[in-house]
Amino acid sequence: MTATKADLAGQLAVVAGFENPQAALEQYPTPPELAAHVVHIADLNDDIEGRTVVDLGAGTGMFTLGAALRGPSRAIGVEIDRDALLIARENRRRVGTRTEIHWVHADATDAPVRPSGPTTVVMNPPFGAQNGNEHADRAFLSTAVDIADISYSVHNAGSRAFVESFAADNAGEVTHAFAAEFDLDNQFDHHATDRTEIDTEVFRIEWPS
Ligand SMILES: C[S@@+](CC[C@H](N)C(=O)[O-])C[C@H]1O[C@@H](n2cnc3c(N)ncnc32)[C@H](O)[C@@H]1O
Repeated sequence: MTATKADLAGQLAVVAGFENPQAALEQYPTPPELAAHVVHIADLNDDIEGRTVVDLGAGTGMFTLGAALRGPSRAIGVEIDRDALLIARENRRRVGTRTEIHWVHADATDAPVRPSGPTTVVMNPPFGAQNGNEHADRAFLSTAVDIADISYSVHNAGSRAFVESFAADNAGEVTHAFAAEFDLDNQFDHHATDRTEIDTEVFRIEWPS
């Protein structure tokens, strides 16, 4: 029987969040429902099974582990914060996947891995919107251009024109775009209330191989 999006979200519900989230790194966890939604669509598009999947800014490993549950040849989580990678490793144990996973401690904006063969990037990069570093996601997209032939990326709402023009400038094509909103527990000072609703947009881009 085909696994559903809800099955995947259920499997990812055990993923633990950041212990000491750093605002400067935009360390908020991607909600399991959003990760499951994106990975499920990627799976339906044949963008996961048998391919290398790379999660840039892997954090707690939510996307790496979600992809790992859908039969890639291997999954690679790249993360600049060593403490987050410790959590991601523990989350791998909780999720219980047998897929080969590599956790890479590196700056994702520097194309630190160059997998051979078909490669899909799945990522929720920092947006930079709140800390005056607008389009911090641009450098993550640049890495996707360098290492992948397909990418799925989560951006803040209103990013469509930027993403489409970035893709066109790099001989890529946005083939799917959809909106997703989620609620976040407030962890950082600039939020005035307990929970914030975040509007995001997700894009599938085909890059030249
Ligand atoms: C919005 S969070 C995404 C978290 C992840 N999807 C999860 O659910 O845990 C962005 C992540 O990118 C990481 N990050 C920020 N700058 C980075 C960089 N230059 N290279 C690698 N990771 C980076 C942050 O530490 C954080 O874990």
